[in-house]
Amino acid sequence: PLQAKMLKAKEISDEEKLYRYNGVLYSTLLSPEEHLKCLEKMQAREDDIMLVAYPKCGFNWMVGVMRKIIAAATGVKSESKIPPLMEFYGPENLKVESVSPSPRFLGTHLHPNNIPASFYEKKTKILVVFRNPKDTMVSFYHFSNSNPALPSAKSWDTFYSQFMSGEVAWGSYFDHALGWEKKMDDPNVMVVTYEEMKQDLSESIRKVSSFYGFSLTDAQVQQIADASTFKAMKESSASSHGNMGNVFFRKGEVGDWKNHFTPEQSREMDEVFNKRLAGTKIGAKLNY
Ligand code: A3P
Repeated sequence: PLQAKMLKAKEISDEEKLYRYNGVLYSTLLSPEEHLKCLEKMQAREDDIMLVAYPKCGFNWMVGVMRKIIAAATGVKSESKIPPLMEFYGPENLKVESVSPSPRFLGTHLHPNNIPASFYEKKTKILVVFRNPKDTMVSFYHFSNSNPALPSAKSWDTFYSQFMSGEVAWGSYFDHALGWEKKMDDPNVMVVTYEEMKQDLSESIRKVSSFYGFSLTDAQVQQIADASTFKAMKESSASSHGNMGNVFFRKGEVGDWKNHFTPEQSREMDEVFNKRLAGTKIGAKLNY
């Protein structure tokens, strides 16, 4: 279905690729309004495994890690190839999801306030992946130019302004961070950063496993970490992501922002970050 959408994307203009819903821009093809509307009523389960990330924060990386954790801990192999974003689901797929066996592995790029209320009511465990805003912006810029479903970035400077003002698909990075800040003390929410995964992947795997109540042996942790390096995931991306592999596995490094930001842009980002996130728990985690 994703491949079909990519083909369809070639037929529509950049202007038609985004639309606004409740003040936030979304992808016309990937998360159409009728999908978002019917998603609001989705029924959660307490044992759902829910992964949330602002775009380009390492969602696909964590999907790969989580699938391996779930397979090692439960013996259940997740079949779906392209990672599951709930906003892709229309009414038909939601019906299929409603009867699929537990534990369901679900994912979304939605702002925490727009995640279906049932997930909070059922106290579903939510794993959030975040990344420093500068590298996130750089990754989003390249993604816009390589993913036909999104309007291509006119230039780095134009994309920079759009990202800073939240005029990009799925909305403002800062709004998402501030949304999660309100849930930092919720025992059912855990935030893991891209940078922390880069620094010590085994430790992140252990943290994520114990959050979901899975216990893995040291050998299993090591095996998952070895199979989840950037190199390993890029190499297997043709089977996991088809011809979108190179789009989702681009560079995989911390600090690529230094090759893109002007000193002035870097200063402005620091200022905005401090103004909006200084003194917050999420801000401390995201500090870069
Ligand atoms: P870059 O564009 O900086 O390379 P998402 O999955 O949320 O779209 O995030 C994509 C980003 O995660 C890309 O960043 C991608 O290269 C990076 N990524 C994916 N798998 C990774 C891995 N195993 N290790 C490090 N980075 C990874």
